[in-house]
Amino acid sequence: MRLIAANWKMNKTVSQTQDYIRSFLKFVEHPESREILLCPPFTSLYVAHQMLEGSGVKLGAQNCYYEKSGAFTGEISPPMLREIGCEYVIIGHSERRHIFGEDDEMINKKLIACLEEGLRPILCVGEKHEDREAGMTFKVVETQVRLALSGIEDMSDRIDIAYEPVWAIGTGVPATPEDAVAVHRFIKELLREMNPKGEGKTRILYGGSVKPTNAGEFMKHPEIEGFLVGGASLDPESFAKIVYSF
Ligand code: PGA
Repeated sequence: MRLIAANWKMNKTVSQTQDYIRSFLKFVEHPESREILLCPPFTSLYVAHQMLEGSGVKLGAQNCYYEKSGAFTGEISPPMLREIGCEYVIIGHSERRHIFGEDDEMINKKLIACLEEGLRPILCVGEKHEDREAGMTFKVVETQVRLALSGIEDMSDRIDIAYEPVWAIGTGVPATPEDAVAVHRFIKELLREMNPKGEGKTRILYGGSVKPTNAGEFMKHPEIEGFLVGGASLDPESFAKIVYSF
């Protein structure tokens, strides 16, 4: 089943979250035909969980730390997220990598910690503009996937992967569906080699300037097994159009 995930980033207070969910739930039908996921900021998770209960819409966080508890001021752990009703956690988003300096080793530790807690991580990978210009797209993506899954290759079926070219995030310039499909196929092949038993259980999502106007074009391709949507997920009607674009 395809997964359509909203990444709100650092947007929406608790009251704005309540307004959004009230409005969004009116658009939700047949929640069994696709998986719908909201990833609000930490401060909104509690209220979102209460409002989403019984709706079929799932809840995820945008990040977490890899320790369970302790002297890590300002951090949030996987058990905290689990108890508050999260099923998913976005890990290694390009903004975490490039603004906050997360490296592949830290991302690997975070994936392990999420899996131990029974959370399903959405691992984000993607090349920068200069990588693409240099013909390095596949090499960069391969390195990110291999390092993120280092030592946990046999658990790759318990994660999903979002391919998000850095140059497409928040720019209004998405990858072409054909370019995205090529990378999605490449990641599938790589996972098949790394974990032959995991066959097909990892969904490869596309992210980067997905909008109601271009979502349908992507969804014509079976290789696009979902979306991770930033800007266009902030309005409930716009996100609902993307959710029902196929
Ligand atoms: P965007 O962001 O849809 O605003 O390009 C996608 C993301 O960062 O996950």
